[in-house]
Amino acid sequence: MNTLLLNAAVAADVAKAAELLQQGHLVAVPTETVYGLAADATKPEAVSQIFRAKGRPADHPLIVHLPDAASITQWAQHIPASAYQLAEAFWPGPLTLLLHKANHVDSCVTGGLDTIGLRVPAHPVLLGLLKSAKLAVAAPSANLYKKLSPTSAHQVYETMQGRIDAVLDGGDCEFGLESTIVSVLGDTVQVLRAGPISAEEISAVLGCKVETPEQHDVKVAGNVAAHYQPGTPLLCLDANQIHAFIAQAPRKIALLAYSSLTEFTAKAPLFWQVAMPQDAKGYGQSLYKQLYLADQTGADVIIVEQPPAESAWLAIHNRLMRAAYQEA
Ligand code: TXA
Ligand code: MG
Repeated sequence: MNTLLLNAAVAADVAKAAELLQQGHLVAVPTETVYGLAADATKPEAVSQIFRAKGRPADHPLIVHLPDAASITQWAQHIPASAYQLAEAFWPGPLTLLLHKANHVDSCVTGGLDTIGLRVPAHPVLLGLLKSAKLAVAAPSANLYKKLSPTSAHQVYETMQGRIDAVLDGGDCEFGLESTIVSVLGDTVQVLRAGPISAEEISAVLGCKVETPEQHDVKVAGNVAAHYQPGTPLLCLDANQIHAFIAQAPRKIALLAYSSLTEFTAKAPLFWQVAMPQDAKGYGQSLYKQLYLADQTGADVIIVEQPPAESAWLAIHNRLMRAAYQEA
C-alpha cells in the first residue's frame, strides 16, 4: 500500500483525508495529544483494519472522537450528569470519558466491552474535518502496538508507511501525551490513565473526590506494564546513578537530561544528549519526540534523568515507568 502524505494546511488535502475516511480507509490524523490512527467508527470493516495495521489485540478498545459534545447521546446511554459537566468543562480537549455504550455500537470498536471511550479532540484541523464531514472516528495512537506514540506526522510516516492509506500532517502535537481517561461509570469517579488534565482539575469541576487507582483491571493502555517503549533499552535514573553509570564500562549512551546537561557531559561528551524542558507541559510535549530521536541514534541504552516527583508530572512518570519496564 502506498501511504499518501497529506498537508493539513491545504484544503484539498483535508478534503481528501475526509473522503478516504468516508470510504472506509485508514488515515493518521493530528490531535492535540498524539497522532491518532483513524477509521470511520460506524464502519466495522474499517475499524477492524486499525487492529491489523497496529498489530494490536482485538480486545483492546478504541476511543471514538466526536465532532461535538451533543453527539455523545448517539454513542452512549445512561449518561450521568457528571459526564455532561466534564464535557462542558474540558471538551474540545484531552479528556476521554468512559460511558455505557449505545446498543448499536459495534463491539469491534469497544473490544467487546459494553462501555465506550469518547472524546471531542481540540486540534482545529481534525475537529473541522469531523464537523464538516459529519464523522465520528475510532482512533488509537498511530503507533505499532506497545511502541512510542507519535507526536509528528513524520514519525507516523516513518513507522506506519505501507500499513495505512494516508497521514494528514497537522504539525507537532500540543500536549505530546495521550488524553486523561476518566471513568464516570460507577459510584466513584476514577482517573484510569493520567494525562494533560489532572485529577485535581476534574475534582474541582465535579466538586467530589476523584480516585486515581494505580492498579486496576480496566483495559486501558497505561495499565499494560510494558508500553510506550522505544526499541533501545531505557533506564530512568537520578543524577547520582547517571554519574555512576557513565563512569562504568564505556557504552553508547543517549541521555535525556533534566537538571543540567553540562554536569553529565563535563568530563567527556556522551554519544547523544538533549536537555529536556524544565516545566511539565514542555517536558510532556517533547518526551516522545526525544525518545524517538534517541532511539534512532544507534545508542546501546537510553537514560532518562528522573524529572520532579510532583503531581503535575504524574502523567510523565506514568509513561516513563512503562517505557523503562523490562520483561523478566
Ligand atoms: O489522546 C489520546 O487518547 C489518543 C488520541 C489519538 O486521541 N488516543 C489514544 O488511544 O491514546 P489508545 O488506543 O492508544 O489508548 C486509549 C486507551 C486504550 O488502551 C484503551 O484500552 C482505553 O483507552 N479505552 C478505550 N475505550 C475503553 C473502554 N471502553 N474501557 C476501558 N478502556 C478503554
Ligand atoms: Mg496508544
